Amino acid sequence: MEQVRVELGQRGYTISVGAGMLAGSLEAGLAALQPTSVHVVTHPSLWRTWSGSLGPTVSGSEPILLRPGERHKHLGAAASILGELAERRADRQCVVVALGGGVVGDVAGFAAACYLRGVRFVQAPTTLLAQVDASAGGKTGVDLRQGKNLVGAFHQPSAVVIDTQTLATLPARHMRSGMAEILKHGIIADEAYFEFVTSRRTGRWRPLPDWLEPVIAQSCRIKAHVVSQDEREGGLRAILNFGHTVGHAIETLTGYRQFSHGEAVAVGMVAAALVSERVCGAPAGLVRRVVDGLTAYGLPWSLPESCSDDEIVRVAMHDKKTSGGILRMALTPGVGHATVMPVDALVLLDALRCHRALRPSGNVHG
Ligand SMILES: NC(=O)c1ccc[n+]([C@@H]2O[C@H](COP(=O)([O-])OP(=O)(O)OC[C@H]3O[C@@H](n4cnc5c(N)ncnc54)[C@H](O)[C@@H]3O)[C@@H](O)[C@H]2O)c1
Ligand SMILES: [Zn+2]
Repeated sequence: MEQVRVELGQRGYTISVGAGMLAGSLEAGLAALQPTSVHVVTHPSLWRTWSGSLGPTVSGSEPILLRPGERHKHLGAAASILGELAERRADRQCVVVALGGGVVGDVAGFAAACYLRGVRFVQAPTTLLAQVDASAGGKTGVDLRQGKNLVGAFHQPSAVVIDTQTLATLPARHMRSGMAEILKHGIIADEAYFEFVTSRRTGRWRPLPDWLEPVIAQSCRIKAHVVSQDEREGGLRAILNFGHTVGHAIETLTGYRQFSHGEAVAVGMVAAALVSERVCGAPAGLVRRVVDGLTAYGLPWSLPESCSDDEIVRVAMHDKKTSGGILRMALTPGVGHATVMPVDALVLLDALRCHRALRPSGNVHG
């Protein structure tokens, strides 16, 4: 088992990564917190699969069940958790356990941030994306009809327990989605990690736990390092948004149906690499490396025909990351490094035009 510390003073916590350690680590983590009551939030199918393997404290509790899917990540879902906690007369010393993907983690974390002005919560992520990205860092929240993640709170978990065995039942598409964020971590912070992840892939991809454990731990280390320096995204943390400006735009424009989050980020990383070539001196081979890395994991990288470049720029300009009408994008001057810079809409437009002309080899024609 590997352990990664998120250094945030009194709000610091440990991320544990291992195989087959869910029950043991949850029991140990909860025992250390000495809660007056424990409330697990999950989806019905996950509860059916995992309720018997969570250790007596969690397995013996009555779950609070949420409907799966991004369309259920709304205030109503958070309200149902809050209502249930109040019905159960949960007090300030209670602990909420989020067992599931990023949707469960974000909603349960948000409810924990609001209930009695903040109670503790433990993340037990069960998707690769949540294990490498969503579960650590303390961003919690829900979507509004007007946009994704528009309501939320910074609320750090008390512990994160990552059991790679939970991924055994995860559909391949969701595994790929998590790989996009893993590749992102390599691009923004660790070239050797990017090389390791992109070079070791062989044949039909279903990674083994002994491959996943160090990979997940390294992604957690990268995220923990960034978050511990900039908890509330005053500056540096924005590098984690690499690929997310255009990614969020195409998610929004395609109604969250055509692309999973990771797939949209994959496409957005190619756009970000093209912008990086234009504004921060990224080397010419960067785009090809990014495209090849995404292709190795069966991730999409082309812009969808259904969204025009103008629409993508328009939506990107309304992103949360825009301030005072200036678009700021996470960019890379070269694999392993990242920066955040203002980007002129015309530069983004030009990058998108080149993006559409890319061929599978990553060469630009036109
Ligand atoms: N808070 C953050 O910092 C942060 C970072 C990245 C993403 N997010 C959020 O995370 C969400 C996406 O998370 P996600 O990709 O995990 O999606 P998700 O939570 O919707 O999970 C995807 C699907 O997989 C199912 N599932 C979960 N674990 C499973 C397992 N082990 N076996 C089989 N099925 C399983 C879920 O029920 C769901 O249907 C988005 O809402 C995004 O905004 C948050
Ligand atoms: Zn993301």
